[in-house]
Amino acid sequence: MTSEWWRTAAIYQIYPRSFADADGDGMGDLAGITSRLGDLQQLGIDAIWLSPFYTSPQRDAGYDVADYCDVDPRFGTLADFDAMLAEAHARGIRVIVDLVPNHCSDQHEWFQAALAAPVGSRERARFYFRDGRGPGGDEPPNNWESVFGGPAWTRIVEPDGTHGQWYLHLFDSSQPDFDWTNEEVREEFRRILRFWLDRGVDGFRVDVAHGLVKADGLPDYTPPAEGGSMGGAGGLTTDAAASGVPLEPGISDEFVDHAPYWAQEGVHEIYRDWRALLDEYPGERVLAAEAWVDPLPRVAKWVRSDEMHQAFNFAYLETPWDAAALRHVIDASLDAFGAVGAPSTWVLSNHDVVRHATRLSVTEANPQGHGLGPRSKGLPSYEPGLRRARAATALMLALPGSSYIYQGEELGLPEVIDLPDEARQDPTWFRTNGERYGRDGCRVPIPWEADAPNYGFGPSGEPWLPQPAQWRELARDRQRGVAGSTLSLYEEALRLRRTLDLGAGSLAWLDGFGDDVLAFRNGGVVVVTNLGSEPATLPEGDVLLASEALDGRSLPGDTTAWLRA
Ligand code: NOJ
Repeated sequence: MTSEWWRTAAIYQIYPRSFADADGDGMGDLAGITSRLGDLQQLGIDAIWLSPFYTSPQRDAGYDVADYCDVDPRFGTLADFDAMLAEAHARGIRVIVDLVPNHCSDQHEWFQAALAAPVGSRERARFYFRDGRGPGGDEPPNNWESVFGGPAWTRIVEPDGTHGQWYLHLFDSSQPDFDWTNEEVREEFRRILRFWLDRGVDGFRVDVAHGLVKADGLPDYTPPAEGGSMGGAGGLTTDAAASGVPLEPGISDEFVDHAPYWAQEGVHEIYRDWRALLDEYPGERVLAAEAWVDPLPRVAKWVRSDEMHQAFNFAYLETPWDAAALRHVIDASLDAFGAVGAPSTWVLSNHDVVRHATRLSVTEANPQGHGLGPRSKGLPSYEPGLRRARAATALMLALPGSSYIYQGEELGLPEVIDLPDEARQDPTWFRTNGERYGRDGCRVPIPWEADAPNYGFGPSGEPWLPQPAQWRELARDRQRGVAGSTLSLYEEALRLRRTLDLGAGSLAWLDGFGDDVLAFRNGGVVVVTNLGSEPATLPEGDVLLASEALDGRSLPGDTTAWLRA
C-alpha cells in the first residue's frame, strides 16, 4: 500500500450501537469494539470508521451530538476510546471517526444557552433562529421540509413564556442546524478536529457534507418544473423528493440543484480550511464526505486536491443490478474522481440504506430512508438477494480505489423486515407516523457466536433491537473457516485484493461475453460477473475466487469469478 493509504483502503464501518456489547446493557460499546478487533484484523480490512459514540440523547442514534469531545456513558469513556485506538493501531488498523458539523443535539450547551438568551443575541446567532411568517408569526419562516418528514422549523417558547422564534433543523427537531456563516461555529469545529487528531485518529467521515451552508436569506424551496428527477437528501429522501426512482448516474439531481440548502458553493471553503488543518498533522489523516449530490462530477468537487480525500460513491450504491447500468456508473466514477486526481470509492451498504443482500432483489422502488417493513411492496425472498450480494461484493472488491464494507455484510446479513412496530426507533418512523419504516432494519445488532446469549452480541440484556432467529446460522463462528461461507468469501477477496494490489490498479473492460455479463482486467486479474440467469463461459485462466461454486468453465447467473490471466 502506498503512503497515501486512503487511495486503496478497504474501510469497515462499525455502527457502535450494534457491533459488540461488552457491558451487557443491550447496546454496543467501545470496549466491545476493542474486544473484537482481532476478528476485523483477520477479515483483512485496512481501517475502521465508527459512527458517532459521543455524548448524545440518541434521538437520531448519536447523530445528535451534545458534546463533541466526550464519549457517551452508554459507549464508555475517553479512556475506553484511547484503549480501542491503541489496540486498532497495534493491529495495523486505522481509525476514522464521524464528525457531525451540520447540526448538534438540542441538549448541546450552545443550544440550551440559545433558548435561554434573548432574540438577536450572540447565543442565538450560532443557529438559525428566525421570526415566523403570517399573523402572529405562526407559520414557519420558509417552506423547507425536514429530511425525516414534516417541517424543517420548530417554534420555541421564549424565556418569558410567549410563543417565540423558530429554529431550523434539516433533520429531527432535536437536531438544530448550526449557522456556518458564524465564525464562532467555524472556530469551534477547528477545536473539535484538533481534539480528535491530537488523540491520534486517522481521519473523519463528515456527516451531511453538502448541507452546512444555506442560501443567503433562506429563500423558499421552489420545486423544479414537472418531470424533474429528485432524490438524495442528506442520506435520505425527503417527502418532496420521493420520486421512487433511483438516480441514474450522470443525470443531474434537480432537487439538489434547486434546494437552497444542499451543495451550496460556500461549503468548499470550509473543507479547504479543514484540509490545511489536517495537513499540519503527520500520517495522512483523511476527510471523507457524505455528500448526497449528483451527478458524479459534482460529487468530485468535494475531493479536489485541496479539499477532502474521499467522497462516498452513492451513485454506485444506488445502481440497480444491471450490467449496462453498472458499467456506466463504474466508468462515470473513475472518470469523475480521476479528473480531480482522487480515488473512486465504492460502497454497497451502510447504516442508512437497505442492506444489499436484500436490496438487490427488491422488486419495487424503495427510496433512500423509507426502509422496508412487513407492509412494504415487492419484498424479496432471502436467497436470490444474498447470491447477488456476494457477486456484487466480489465485483466491488476487484475495482481500483477504496471500498467501504458495512458491519455484518461479511456475514451475508439481510435487512430485518419484520421488526415489530413498537421496536422501531428511527426518527423517520415517528415523524411520518409510520408511513416510512426508516432505517432500523439495517441496524440490528450483529451475531458473533451461534450458541451464546444474543448470538454473542453481548453477555446479557435485550439488544436494543431484536435479533431474528435466522441469524443463529449466520453467526461468525458458524462461518469461520467454512469453504463457501460469505465470511470466507470476504476474507479471501480482501486477501487477494491486498496481495494483488487491486486497489491501486486500473480497469480495462473486456467485451464479447454477452449483454448480461461484465468483464474487465485489473492488472493480472480478469473479473467476470454474470448478472443474467443463463450461464456464461469463463475465459482461460486459473480461478482465484468465485462467489458461488463453479462447474468447470461455466459461470452461473448472479455470480462473479476472478481469474489469473
Ligand atoms: C447522515 C447519517 O448517516 C444519518 O444516519 C443521519 O441520520 C443524518 N446524516 C443526520 O445526521
